[in-house]
Amino acid sequence: MSQPTIESVLNEKRLFAPSAEFSQSAHIKSLEEYQQIYDRAKADPAAFWAELATTELDWFEKWHTVLDWQPPNVKWFDGGKINISYNCLDRHLKTGCKNKAALIWEGENGDSRTLTYAQLHREVCQFANALKQLGIKKGDRVGIYMPMIPEAAIAMLACARIGAVHGVVFGGFSAEALRDRLVDAEAKLVITADGGWRKDVIVPLKEQVDKAIANGAVPSVTDVLVVKRTGQNIHMSAGRDHWWHDLQQGVSAKCEAEPMDSEDMLFVLYTSGSTGKPKGVVHTTAGYNLYSHITAKWIFDLKDTDVYWCTADVGWITGHSYIVYGPLSNGATTLMYEGAPRASNLGCFWDVIEKYQVTVFYTAPTAIRSFIKMGEHHPNTRDLTSLRLLGTVGEPINPEAWMWYHRVIGGGRCPIVDTWWQTETGGIMITALPGAVPTKPGSATLPFPGIIPDIVDLDGNPAHDNEGGYLIVRHPWPGMMRTVYGDPDRFRKSYWEHIPPKDGNYVYFAGDGARKDEDGYYWVMGRVDDVINVAGHRLGTMEIESALVSHPAVAEAAVVGKPDDVKGEDIFAFVILEGDRQPSEELSKELKKHVVNEIGAIARPNEIRFAEALPKTRSGKIMRRLLRSLASGQEITSDTSTLEDRSILDKLREGA
Ligand code: WT7
Repeated sequence: MSQPTIESVLNEKRLFAPSAEFSQSAHIKSLEEYQQIYDRAKADPAAFWAELATTELDWFEKWHTVLDWQPPNVKWFDGGKINISYNCLDRHLKTGCKNKAALIWEGENGDSRTLTYAQLHREVCQFANALKQLGIKKGDRVGIYMPMIPEAAIAMLACARIGAVHGVVFGGFSAEALRDRLVDAEAKLVITADGGWRKDVIVPLKEQVDKAIANGAVPSVTDVLVVKRTGQNIHMSAGRDHWWHDLQQGVSAKCEAEPMDSEDMLFVLYTSGSTGKPKGVVHTTAGYNLYSHITAKWIFDLKDTDVYWCTADVGWITGHSYIVYGPLSNGATTLMYEGAPRASNLGCFWDVIEKYQVTVFYTAPTAIRSFIKMGEHHPNTRDLTSLRLLGTVGEPINPEAWMWYHRVIGGGRCPIVDTWWQTETGGIMITALPGAVPTKPGSATLPFPGIIPDIVDLDGNPAHDNEGGYLIVRHPWPGMMRTVYGDPDRFRKSYWEHIPPKDGNYVYFAGDGARKDEDGYYWVMGRVDDVINVAGHRLGTMEIESALVSHPAVAEAAVVGKPDDVKGEDIFAFVILEGDRQPSEELSKELKKHVVNEIGAIARPNEIRFAEALPKTRSGKIMRRLLRSLASGQEITSDTSTLEDRSILDKLREGA
């Protein structure tokens, strides 16, 4: 069980075609059909997207301009009026979907709830009115810091319904990280819960919110709204804090969806980049609605009879696009699970699949690798025969894990869609369409129709087949991010000028290394910037370094990824202490805890190595390449001629 290496994937020749039965009933039924759609979309992307926008979504007013592209600024469906909450709810009440399950929820403690489309609509309308009563208006930013409970989706949809901009912050982030995001977004309101269940312990969410906004640290926040989930004691600050259930009392369940301009902001979601400060990725209304809708429909092959389950958290883009908006816009049944595999129930995922007869299952390679470690016994003792389609996302999947997923979970009959995309892309970009595209273990396969990726060098020259390079996208697509919140300059520099535009042709720089094989299949290798992927979570090494350096004992820090069997990468930190501080086991523990406080448990360094100095070039740049080799205990074979002081390397090794 290892991460994909050039050798293992270059030798990967296995090809898995969907069964005739699967293809016949799929939305896209053959490679020829995919190819036809792809070619048509490539020849005239604007016409392709306009046609889908007409057939797939409901509009209050039609747009006048499909695409207005003034790099790096884009407008899709300008002049149109639309509301994503209307497309996810109201329109389904007029069809057979009204009494169909929209959201099935399973809590970690055994609680469960199912909301039909009619019920979800009612809850969203009522909550939208409660937001209005609190003075929340179109354009206001609302922070959402919630466990995986139906109210998280209800809050998102209610914001969208009245035109408020939601900024969901993953419940695993610390109070400090929450504060930074609320400050950056200038949120007026925070929606949270008393607590949430996570691996048999209660996460004290409200307490974290209190810490984050204490002493006026986030002056924009005037109100906090609290869902009662766990029932433990919390502090409610009079005038500022309100219980969700109190606010709902006597509130009307009638609330028309606000007609939004196509380019009105829908949400902001923070993600790590290669500097210390997370970026607020901005998505807007119409383009995101269309893109999350059509990708969910064709890639997960959503049908009326499906029970679809994505195991992500709503705090990440995967939860936004493929738990909430994409499936609901399609009138599908989406399942939300609060829990995670835990010592008290290692097989809980398989219990959920058996209980609800899940048909489509979407999870991360790191989860699959941890299932392999737990043993086949867990899935083998549950009935998983309802499954018909599997998906993965978040990091490259090694062919061994792919084969295990296919055989043990999919019973050899389910196609696997390995979906490459990012917070910034809004939806899936490179993937198999399951009834059409034969898959190769470890490859995300082919681009979605309307997406024109390529592999290039740093000057923008296309790479040859099987030659590694940088993954880029050549033409704008409706789901793409519009800007970095409050920092358009950073948007332009990070994504559109990294590869210099040629003849006015701007290309989107994804930050991933990849290659394309002789069949045009994409093989994504991983990040090429200072971002690491730890158990499917994207973390900036500089964010972790800043957290370490903010501790009084630390003078300097360098963080690198170290390959890990289950997590893909783990966090390895080199730390130089302030003058008189001495390395110790206690200090190491304290520093790890400090990082958890600053960012969250997902950023806890696995290993800290104290050092006297870091290897730097003559111009003072830290040589991370060398640190990565040292962290993984590899021989340093690469060129060290630019290293200023060679004795540093020996000392770093001795520190092991
Ligand atoms: C980064 C984006 C949006 C999905 C959840 C993560 C890596 C994602 C794959 C895949 C290889 C993948 C990339 C990408 N990644 N999916 N199928 N194969 N790598 O979203 O937190 O914005 O991270 O995840 O490195 O750049 P994110």
